[in-house]
Amino acid sequence: MSVLVAKGLIRQFNGLRAVDNVTLEIPEQQVRALIGPNGAGKTTLVGLLSGRLACSNGRIDFLGRDITKVPPHKRIAMGMAYTFQITSIFPSLSVHENVAIAARRLCRNEKDTRAVVADALKRVSLAHVANTDAADLSYGHQRLLEIAMGLSQSPRLLILDEPTQGLAEGEVAEFIKLIHDIRQNTTVLLIEHNMDVVMQVADVVTVLNHGQVLFEGTPADVQANIEVQTAYLGGAHVKA
Ligand SMILES: Nc1ncnc2c1ncn2[C@@H]1O[C@H](COP(=O)(O)OP(=O)(O)OP(=O)(O)O)[C@@H](O)[C@H]1O
Ligand SMILES: [Mg+2]
Repeated sequence: MSVLVAKGLIRQFNGLRAVDNVTLEIPEQQVRALIGPNGAGKTTLVGLLSGRLACSNGRIDFLGRDITKVPPHKRIAMGMAYTFQITSIFPSLSVHENVAIAARRLCRNEKDTRAVVADALKRVSLAHVANTDAADLSYGHQRLLEIAMGLSQSPRLLILDEPTQGLAEGEVAEFIKLIHDIRQNTTVLLIEHNMDVVMQVADVVTVLNHGQVLFEGTPADVQANIEVQTAYLGGAHVKA
């Protein structure tokens, strides 16, 4: 079964079509990478899938249900979790409490919440800093905290918008291990600029350029595709 089926998605911002007729189908258990140059429309597409932005046109089905007009909190309750490109934790709250806020959306009581939070923090290797203020974590750990917030909702689909941006090399290696763990029971849509990460974790890569799907294939196919390379290497700005 496909976890997510998006057909003909369009998002217009005044004169600009940030997402221009995108069709995307993600089967269960897949790690899908979404790549493309700056301004390609990746974050806008995530906004449409998560419901934070309305579609100008098109249709989104999640787990077999039409969610095109379903509000974001209901999509979360249905099993969609996402992290933002810009870190969005609560800095003055503890690591535990940050995850608890996310977990409480679905947990019945505080005992459940505590167990779910402990499990999510363990999975991202942050159990030892559960009582630390989020503000005192390193940037890399803050990004892991966001992933724990998503995982605490036991998502069927986890969408990560550039989770490795700004991470140190060792942290990127840890992140790759984490994705291999997450993928055992969760479908993943990963927006990612780091091609090493894409090569190591993605089953299928979708390349977005000017709001349109330019190419879709295995990581090896994408690397070999000249057009894709031109979009990347010829682009004004490529994040390494
Ligand atoms: N709220 C908005 N209003 C107007 N234009 C927007 C808005 N959000 C995004 N855009 C424009 O839509 C285009 C796509 O932006 P988007 O942020 O989706 O790209 P991206 O692929 O995520 O880029 P990056 O790699 O830099 O994160 C850009 O030209 C951007 O300026
Ligand atoms: Mg973006």
